[in-house]
Amino acid sequence: MASTNPFSTSFSEALLELLSQDPRLAAGTSVDRLAAIQLARRFDADLLRRLLANDVFANYFFVSTDLGPVFKKDLFVDYLSNKSFLPDSYTAYANKIGLATDSRNLLSARDNVVLNWPYKDAILEGGQDKEDARRDEVFHNATLAADEVGRLLNPKAFGKWVKVDADGESESFTVSPADNLILRGNNLLVLHSLLPRYRGKIKLIYIDPPYNVGDDSFSYNDRFSHSTWLTFMRNRLEVAQQLLSKSGVLFMQIDYKEFAYLKVLADEVFGPEKALPHVTVKTSTPAGFKVINPGFINVTEQILVYVKHERNVIRDGFVPVGYQSDYNQVVLDKRLPAEEWQVLPITEAALIKDGYSTINDLESALGSKQVAKIVLKQMVEKFALDHADNVFTTYGPHKPSKTLSAAMKKSLELGSQIMEVQDEEGAARPKYLRKGRLLAFYAAKLQKIDGALVPTQRLTDIWTDISWDSLSTEGGVTLRNGKKPEALLRRIIDLTTEPGDLVLDYHLGSGTTAAVAHKMGRQYIGIEQIEYGVNDARVRLTKVVEGDQSGVSKAVGWAGGGSFVYAELLNHSAEFLARVRSSTSTKQLVQLFVEASRASFLSYRANPKTMNATTEEFEALGLDEQKQILSALVDHNSLYVNYGDMLDPDLAVSKADQAHNDQFYLEQTP
Ligand SMILES: C[S@@+](CC[C@H](N)C(=O)[O-])C[C@H]1O[C@@H](n2cnc3c(N)ncnc32)[C@H](O)[C@@H]1O
Repeated sequence: MASTNPFSTSFSEALLELLSQDPRLAAGTSVDRLAAIQLARRFDADLLRRLLANDVFANYFFVSTDLGPVFKKDLFVDYLSNKSFLPDSYTAYANKIGLATDSRNLLSARDNVVLNWPYKDAILEGGQDKEDARRDEVFHNATLAADEVGRLLNPKAFGKWVKVDADGESESFTVSPADNLILRGNNLLVLHSLLPRYRGKIKLIYIDPPYNVGDDSFSYNDRFSHSTWLTFMRNRLEVAQQLLSKSGVLFMQIDYKEFAYLKVLADEVFGPEKALPHVTVKTSTPAGFKVINPGFINVTEQILVYVKHERNVIRDGFVPVGYQSDYNQVVLDKRLPAEEWQVLPITEAALIKDGYSTINDLESALGSKQVAKIVLKQMVEKFALDHADNVFTTYGPHKPSKTLSAAMKKSLELGSQIMEVQDEEGAARPKYLRKGRLLAFYAAKLQKIDGALVPTQRLTDIWTDISWDSLSTEGGVTLRNGKKPEALLRRIIDLTTEPGDLVLDYHLGSGTTAAVAHKMGRQYIGIEQIEYGVNDARVRLTKVVEGDQSGVSKAVGWAGGGSFVYAELLNHSAEFLARVRSSTSTKQLVQLFVEASRASFLSYRANPKTMNATTEEFEALGLDEQKQILSALVDHNSLYVNYGDMLDPDLAVSKADQAHNDQFYLEQTP
């Protein structure tokens, strides 16, 4: 007996079972939902009889009247149309985006709120090869074309393998698991191709995807419809998650428009408990064209942060700050016992140190009150740095232990005399109290940043200290929109990885992440679809190997060296299409037509047998029509060569490429 709760799994399973017994509705192991809906709309007697024979369904889908039970057709159709009843994305939720429950489970089965949108379960290839190349968005639906999706996501073969090191470029080398990789091609396919080798091995993924703002760059990707963009992001996030190691972490940079959607989506993919506080990063100043916009001036972007498993994967960061004026007292001689410590205000100590008794002395020496004020400030800052172990401020502890509370009371009675207290048993250092408050020495605020000891504060989730100003010249490459400062990537890499860890960026753009990872001794994989010519990541990384001194080079002591391997997804049918375009005679085109009927990229819609039988009709068409047909015959979803098909002679994969692919796929990472 099915549960009477229509939102329970047993209710829906029993209904599925009942419907599957109708031979008109059987669809493999499942049920033809559309056919069932049609039968319901026609009040099909057999369907109604079956439903009425089950008490639970009779109660739920019928209302009793004096004339007998009346079928609640709309309720039944709605129930069947609900995605949670029989998941498939093509039939459900056609142009709506909003907050709903999980698409795969019944409402009651999950507590999380998730985003739903049209074609959520589909796979969106979403790629472009050139900056100006646009093509229709290609959806692959898991329900309707499972084979196609499988083929699409199979590991792909790569070609044009090159290794770049200090000696230049070489095509003869062995691909090693420790290689840095710059891979050209659609990131969905490349990410899936990374799985066999790098599943669970990546420590940090940083991405800076197209923000979906209809901007002029990334002509195709940045103008996705809202739902398309979400599908695009989700497909890739799901693989990214599999690539992360247990202590792996993902950073995703985005602006305010898609931020909230991406957050809910990522919560769904990773689990809301895997989210760390997101970072707000200041990316510009209210200058230039932005000030003409009414309302707030938007100067920030967001970086969402998700961990794979372990939450404790980000080390403490510090940012330089100026001298903090509450560090305004100085212990003169710390060698004495604490009760005998003499304390002076820092201004006095600084003046004495530089040979003045009072501020008036300094004023008369400089001849100006104002100048004296400025100079004194500098003297104090310098004094604090030079005597950081002696300069202090005081604070009231948040939750003092019993011992400390008692000591604080006692200290209040001692006036300005300092007292030493051993707070916890075995604590490495004693604490000091003055007037009931704890002493904090300036030395604890000092950290070495880029070689200099400076006052710092703990890094928060608002980053305002990274400059976007000299961005355009970094790495010797330009990218019209979206290039990120090397300093930003340095911070993220520094907070999350150790030398040798694997870093991945699958929206590589001009190569910032890879360039910084290289300079910081991390292993990296960068994926980018567009070939940016002289501004390409490959060019930038070559400059890094040669010792590029821009960006973070000086700060990290980069002097050149290392290597990286470049490869591209082997693009099979694209070459065929180029031959179609350049053909000038029917003879050539007929030859290509025959070739197409045997080719692995033939669209699944075309039937090779019918093609063979109609070659003469094809021959009779005009040149333009022939070209049009040939282009349509190509399955644009399988522009690429599966690694598993690489030995097929039709694909003409060179021996060298075969060897590199075997090394890539068969040699396991340690
Ligand atoms: C905002 S840019 C990244 C800029 C990068 N952070 C930098 O500092 O140069 C986004 C990049 O993602 C790439 N991209 C978008 N969709 C892609 C896809 N399907 N496959 C590979 N790359 C893609 C775009 O071509 C673009 O170069």
